[in-house]
Amino acid sequence: MSDIAERLRELRDAGLHRRLRLVDGPQGPSVQLDGRRVLLLCSNNYLGLADHPRVRKAAAEAAMRWGAGAGASRLISGNMAPHRQLEERLARFKGYPAALLFGSGYLANSGAIAALAGRGEVVFSDALNHASIVDGCRLSRAETFVYRHNDVEHLAWGLRRAADRASLIVTDAVFSMDGDVAPLGELARLAREHGCRLVVDEAHATGAVGAEGRGCVAASGLSGEVDVVVGTLGKALGSYGAYVCASRAMTELLVNTARPFIFSTAPPPPALAAAEAALDLLESGPERVAALRSNAAALRAGLAAEGLSPGGAETQIVPVAIGDAVATMRLSELLLERGVFAQGIRPPTVPEGTSRLRLTTMATHRPDELRWAARVIGVAARELGVAATGPAPALAAA
Ligand SMILES: Cc1ncc(COP(=O)(O)O)c(C=O)c1O
Repeated sequence: MSDIAERLRELRDAGLHRRLRLVDGPQGPSVQLDGRRVLLLCSNNYLGLADHPRVRKAAAEAAMRWGAGAGASRLISGNMAPHRQLEERLARFKGYPAALLFGSGYLANSGAIAALAGRGEVVFSDALNHASIVDGCRLSRAETFVYRHNDVEHLAWGLRRAADRASLIVTDAVFSMDGDVAPLGELARLAREHGCRLVVDEAHATGAVGAEGRGCVAASGLSGEVDVVVGTLGKALGSYGAYVCASRAMTELLVNTARPFIFSTAPPPPALAAAEAALDLLESGPERVAALRSNAAALRAGLAAEGLSPGGAETQIVPVAIGDAVATMRLSELLLERGVFAQGIRPPTVPEGTSRLRLTTMATHRPDELRWAARVIGVAARELGVAATGPAPALAAA
């Protein structure tokens, strides 16, 4: 039996110890953290909808009409109208015949992958996929071929070797810690050529990519070609929960075989109503998506002006490579003292030696506060002598 105090000490010594901080109030563009107001640069509440008055009101009204919780798994105590209504809405939004709600993105990915692949088959997973995908691969008991990040040649090589055992290709659409985008067209072509399914996780693409925020799959015209699209309600849609979009047969299979769907309480009605109100706001106000994108550009430009090299593509996730975990957390702490809440990301969330600040913008930030934050980050990085320049984290990790 391992000694708990010893394990905690090891984590501290390696700069990998984590602790929870107290935020007093909603997740706005700035938050009250441990009693101080700081600019929030690490929330996935990308469109600022988590505390939008209409979203809050929808949740409150649903709580009064339907109650606070769903009571059980939907297979046990029944489907409630808010579940069915939101599923129909999400399927239309993503351009799929059907959608199925899960308790969270973690449960959707791990459940869907484990249900769709099995022993004797091979799942192909990008090296920088989210932990919930990694765990889904493990749970499936299929062999997992981890292809180098966004490396289509490496994937094609693995597919040829697996021959008819190839079952699934699975990828983040926008990579959660790197902010770059998967080559979905190429992945769809390879899936077609090798007769396997393609699963795309749009956790950070929904509400952020494409003029209307429908995500990378829709923006690339691949809605029919990608077999399974996973999305979450807890990021740009400001609520909690997740969904899988697919064919009717596929969602029926998941109802029957995805263990987190079968053996876990259904998402609560207030969270569903909040997500639906957020979808209303997204569909009626695509300018939020444009603001998110231009804010990301403002932050990237500000960092570049400081001599820093933010990685990723042009998305709202802006990684600044540091490398060493201890140096990353020292920088993060100094920034917090100066009013910028910029989370340091370390192993095991990212590969060894690729610790970074993972900055995220929101549609509700003001460009001038992002420029100010970039200056604060530049000054602090120079003061601490951390080499926050050089190759993007995605390249360093490949
Ligand atoms: C790419 C990706 N997929 C899935 C998840 C899990 O979603 P949830 O937070 O709803 O469990 C996350 C969470 O950060 C993520 O980044």
